[in-house]
Amino acid sequence: MNKTELEAELNRITQAVNSKLEIMAYVPDVPEKSVYEAMRYSLLAGGKRLRPILTVGSALMTGGDFDDAVTAGCAIECVHTYSLIHDDLPCMDDDDLRRGKPTCHKVFPENIALLAGDGLLTKAFEIISAPGGFKTLSTGTVNKLALCLSRAAGCAGMIGGQVIDLESENMENISAERLTLMHRKKTGAMIEAAALMGALIGGITEENRDEYKAISDYAMNLGLAFQIKDDILDVVGDEDVLGKPVGSDEQQGKNTFVTLLGISGAEDRLEKCTADAVEALEIFGEKGAFLRGLARKLISRSN
Ligand code: IPE
Ligand code: IPE
Ligand code: MG
Ligand code: MG
Ligand code: MG
Repeated sequence: MNKTELEAELNRITQAVNSKLEIMAYVPDVPEKSVYEAMRYSLLAGGKRLRPILTVGSALMTGGDFDDAVTAGCAIECVHTYSLIHDDLPCMDDDDLRRGKPTCHKVFPENIALLAGDGLLTKAFEIISAPGGFKTLSTGTVNKLALCLSRAAGCAGMIGGQVIDLESENMENISAERLTLMHRKKTGAMIEAAALMGALIGGITEENRDEYKAISDYAMNLGLAFQIKDDILDVVGDEDVLGKPVGSDEQQGKNTFVTLLGISGAEDRLEKCTADAVEALEIFGEKGAFLRGLARKLISRSN
């Protein structure tokens, strides 16, 4: 797959995801309208849509249905957007800019932003369990999707990682093991779930051990690489392109791969994790070309 084909496929998936999210983010005319407005604001503020792209890419690689993968991807994007709203709150990273716009709690009252996050998290599971939501999936597969997403978003995954992140602020001599665990959980878990949900839609379960493990290894390494790059961009990024503050980590006393290894050490680690991700998909041959190309492309992302 050459660069032009990769870009075309990325555009095709992103457009399908954005069209569906636009419909999902409708604002009903009800007294509690403000929470819907806050949910819509953050959901449609932009964003790379990496997690839905992974779900669709993984589903297509394993023979799954495009539209069903887009639907599942939108559910993951709701959980991801909730995590960003809460991550930016004054009691967390206290950031004012997200996806190139003022953060949710800067536009809406803080209590409404908090509830908008809760609303998006809940909506994700409504999307997955709504009757008739998926064209091609059995109830058993739908249950597996819900389990996969809830485990990744919950205390064993993303929430746990955010706790480690907060409790590692200003910690001296943090170990590489703790930092790796934090990144794998806070970012890697959701990225892994995105790819595994695509695989489930393609009919791959834990019983298809080699394929399932390959996709899991790919996404875990990609997730770690993605957060290492995020740490690097927080230091060397351009705020206008990044769409979020540069220097936020230093200001909050965060431990990151840059504080641990320096920029060039973090870059080496980013390349190693990406190479491991790419290698994990070898068993899929040509069918894995899109996801391998995506991993390589993310090394040099600027937002
Ligand atoms: C930001 O995620 C939070 C991290 C896990 C690093 P993204 O970089 O995917 O943010 P959006 O969705 O593109 O805004
Ligand atoms: C956030 O990590 C991970 C989440 C679960 C949202 P960061 O705090 O580094 O993400 P950004 O840099 O604010 O997007
Ligand atoms: Mg954070
Ligand atoms: Mg943050
Ligand atoms: Mg960051």
